[in-house]
Amino acid sequence: MENQNKETIPEKFKDFSAEFTVHAPGRINLIGEHTDYNNGFVLPTAIDKRINIHFAANSTPYSCNIYSKTYGKNFSFDLQKISRSEEDWENYILGVVNEIQKRGKFPKGFDCIIESDLPVGAGISSSAALESGIAFGLNELFDLQLSRQSIAELSRDAEHNYVGTKCGIMDQYASVLSKEGHLILLDCRSLEAVYVPATFENHKLLLLNTMVSHSLASSEYNTRRQECEQAVNHIKERYPEVNSLREVNLSRLAEFKNSLPQLLYKRAHYVVSENDRVLKAVEAIKQGDLEQFGSLMYDSHKGLRDNYEVSCEELDFLVDLTTDYKPVKGARMMGGGFGGCTINLIEEDHVEEFIKVASEAYREQFNITPEAIVVSPEQGTYLTRN
Ligand code: GLA
Repeated sequence: MENQNKETIPEKFKDFSAEFTVHAPGRINLIGEHTDYNNGFVLPTAIDKRINIHFAANSTPYSCNIYSKTYGKNFSFDLQKISRSEEDWENYILGVVNEIQKRGKFPKGFDCIIESDLPVGAGISSSAALESGIAFGLNELFDLQLSRQSIAELSRDAEHNYVGTKCGIMDQYASVLSKEGHLILLDCRSLEAVYVPATFENHKLLLLNTMVSHSLASSEYNTRRQECEQAVNHIKERYPEVNSLREVNLSRLAEFKNSLPQLLYKRAHYVVSENDRVLKAVEAIKQGDLEQFGSLMYDSHKGLRDNYEVSCEELDFLVDLTTDYKPVKGARMMGGGFGGCTINLIEEDHVEEFIKVASEAYREQFNITPEAIVVSPEQGTYLTRN
């Protein structure tokens, strides 16, 4: 980023002067993975790594120009003719504009420059940050009267309809609605949020980025969602009131052990157990019982690895490394899976030492240097004026 100079800036942006900058954060999730699209519970928060988007209206009715410093690419579009692009990253923006228009709100011509210190493909939701950051900026620029919650919802819908990942609401919600120093216990059925103080005395949250992002991620993601829906449809035949795995507990699920195909049973078993774990984790955090919280993190990882089958050898390796290392209270893969980061709760005095040990072991095994990122719970999307 720092190397950008006037020469490399596209012609259309030479005289660009921003009215304001939107700071849209990535997110972590402490526990509650693949539960959001099952109407369940999640425990995410925003972090201090962000996409920064500089905005200005350009006084044309329909013409928009976007320049991504991160990709070194720019593109233009007409607000009257929004359609999907061949370029993935453009769809995050086009999809958001399309969802805003669908809601009967009409931005006018605008220009923006995007810069980022959020690693892409690391499972810390650079896509959700980009989507909701664009929506947040357009809302401000054209006074569209969108609430933070509707910004999160329309950003999720953009991802469904333009990007093609049938994601849940967690990433967008966390990016837009987090509060500094807190985790969000979000009920993804009602969208009721309880802000839980993130008190991890003498401990840090450390991400270890595997630096891999297996191509299975988005196709398998949608498959998991379908498998959960199939399980629900099966259960519904006997219990018509059940609309999601949220409405099922382990003893009810056990009634279907023989009739549900084994694969679907495993998927459902993971989701139902993970919902329970989120609620137990919140109690453990409130009581300062980090051993208990850590052990729930390990259980979550096992479920994701064995029953939900969204982990990979790189993630498993990094989690396994911690099991005999006392200063790490808990570790698990984070996000959609098939690569990205592990999240570790670790005694602060041992962070440096552990990063060194883990990096060496990982390098030896995979010939890749992992990226270590210490994160803290931060506020959601905000705006600054120069
Ligand atoms: C991705 C999706 C989220 C959520 C997680 C898994 O990050 O965007 O909606 O489903 O995976 O918990």
